[in-house]
Amino acid sequence: MKFFADTAIVADIEELAQYGLLDGVTTNPSLIAKSGRDFKQVIAEICALTDGPVSAEVAAMEAPAMIAEGEHLARIADNVVIKLPLTLEGLKACRHFTAQGIRTNVTLCFSANQALLAAKAGATYISPFVGRLDDLGLDGMELIREIRMICDTYAFETEVLAASVRSANHVKEAAIAGAHVATVPPVVIKGLASHVLTDKGLAQFAKDWAETGQSIL
Ligand code: E4P
Repeated sequence: MKFFADTAIVADIEELAQYGLLDGVTTNPSLIAKSGRDFKQVIAEICALTDGPVSAEVAAMEAPAMIAEGEHLARIADNVVIKLPLTLEGLKACRHFTAQGIRTNVTLCFSANQALLAAKAGATYISPFVGRLDDLGLDGMELIREIRMICDTYAFETEVLAASVRSANHVKEAAIAGAHVATVPPVVIKGLASHVLTDKGLAQFAKDWAETGQSIL
């Protein structure tokens, strides 16, 4: 499963890249607002840090305006992926970009039927929002399983991108459910390496090693 960093904070993306834990990046208008920075400048900086796909979301609601915004964003770098909302207008824009050979990420997906429409529109990625479904007491991971099954059954090339992933358990469950990609906040990605028994074991090894009085080099 690929890891995308779900953030618009450039320093965090840079750090993940250094650990080799960065396969791509997703942003959304809320993350851009949180960064307090210029949208196009941030996207350009992120694209310079990774060859992986970088999702940049349109703000328009109607397909012609989405297409104009998307074409503008796509000129920032070759690895920009145009993020479009899962609406009829967004699907129309998705078909346009697919025909142009421009990659898309169809976002705000909350049902298998929505995902089916996005796959039929040629979406490169479909983003089901796991955490926001869980927030309502629904089963976000069940949606990942359903969409993966649909994509496999009909051999759609659309990749299932588990979004709104907020915990280590979400990451594990998304991997088990067969998500091709999970987009995850950097703090959660880094936390995947941690285990209390690893820390405890390492402390013991360090203590025992010091008592040997040896050095490797
Ligand atoms: C990414 O593409 C989504 O916009 C993001 O994962 C949403 O996460 P949230 O539900 O935690 O805001």
